[in-house]
Amino acid sequence: MVKPATAVALAVMLLVAGCDHGHQITHRPDVNRPVGYVWELPEGFPVPLVPPDNPMTVEKVDLGRRLFYDTRLSGDGSVSCATCHLPELAFTDGKSRSVGMQGSIHPRSAMSLTNVAYNATLGWDDPALTRLEDQIRVPLLNTRPHEMGVAGREDEVLSRLRKDRRMRRLFGKAFPDDEQPVIMRNAIYAIAAFERTLISGNSPYDRWAYGGESTALNKGERAGARLFFSKRLSCFQCHAGFNFSGPVVYEGSELPEPLFHNTALYDEDGRGAYPEPNTGVHRMTGRMEDMGKFRAPTLRNIALTAPYMHDGSIPTLEAVLDHYAAGGRARPVNPGTSETEVESGSDSLMTGFELSPEEKKKLIAFLNALTDESFVRRAIKQAVR
Ligand code: HEC
Ligand code: HEC
Repeated sequence: MVKPATAVALAVMLLVAGCDHGHQITHRPDVNRPVGYVWELPEGFPVPLVPPDNPMTVEKVDLGRRLFYDTRLSGDGSVSCATCHLPELAFTDGKSRSVGMQGSIHPRSAMSLTNVAYNATLGWDDPALTRLEDQIRVPLLNTRPHEMGVAGREDEVLSRLRKDRRMRRLFGKAFPDDEQPVIMRNAIYAIAAFERTLISGNSPYDRWAYGGESTALNKGERAGARLFFSKRLSCFQCHAGFNFSGPVVYEGSELPEPLFHNTALYDEDGRGAYPEPNTGVHRMTGRMEDMGKFRAPTLRNIALTAPYMHDGSIPTLEAVLDHYAAGGRARPVNPGTSETEVESGSDSLMTGFELSPEEKKKLIAFLNALTDESFVRRAIKQAVR
């Protein structure tokens, strides 16, 4: 069981037991290490990396959780983080494209916040966005589209919060050294601390793989796992490691290279162009070789986060598998003709494969077994509505 924000009566000793590469590691307190927050991590999960300027505390996580659900944090007071990141949908919104303040439509689909603490880069396609503290400025300040519409209205937003005595008290407890704690930077830091607690690792798959519960997966789900990890399907090569995702960081890990793939979703011009503005890493770099490249998101809780892909253009897991089996839906349509010689830029792993209806059912059963019900139940219980 994962319990974020587990309050520990301020013990001088902080023992964080984590399991890194199968070894128990114990962190002893040292002077620079804040005391008062203890991770309770699932078996096999490493300790999340926390920026030195934003140490975890129970009070900060509590404030961050309240702010995450608080619509006062938007320009017109109508939108909160949870508008697009709903706990019951593993912090997605069930839409192909998110809708922000006053109905403005985001070009992309909201991402799950499951295990977001571990992502080496944040967002679908931004190699430079690596800290949750920086990511939060995007929805707050974005004007194209307006997500939360705070840009230019910071004072208004803060004065709303300052008027609330309870908010003033919560900010004060979370940032006890600040004379005026109700500031935007502190709001952002508290939300980031809360996000780091959204750790999910108690799915049937975890209980089977790490918890020693040999019956947690049935025969079909186990066969699905073998397909997922097979060379033929190669899902595991991009959705890798304990988080079934692109590169991760954690305490003591190497800093991985950011990694993005083109999964042959679009070919607008016969040369692999993706439709504007969703051209992937190309959107940032302008380089043709970055066309259509997106980050492989975690597949944990994937059954809850339809529709799929950066633009929500694939409605179901069945259809996702059809997409991969075909080697991508934007493959040249006339094999044998000159069109096949066109370099689409898609990843070399996107070669396609045969998948019988039986196998498809098993693979989907496995993907469903990545749903962590205790994570979702807890998230709903802790939601502030
Ligand atoms: C209008 C809907 C909307 C609102 C409001 C919103 N988000 Fe998001 N969120 C999105 C979308 C869409 C993405 C994907 C953005 C992209 O990369 O193009 C996203 C991505 C993220 C990510 C990246 C996840 C990952 O795995 O990389 C984080 C973290 C996040 N949001 C946190 C927040 C927080 C915290 C708030 C509140 C301050 C918030 N969001 C408000 C729609 C929203
Ligand atoms: C070449 C790397 C690669 C391989 C191989 C791969 N994926 Fe993906 N996967 C990605 C990327 C990148 C995305 C996001 C693509 C986008 O939105 O444009 C993705 C998206 C997904 C999504 C949707 C996630 C979401 O949150 O919307 C699912 C589900 C998925 N993959 C399952 C699988 C399965 C099952 C396999 C094996 C059959 C597989 N993937 C193989 C890279 C890969």
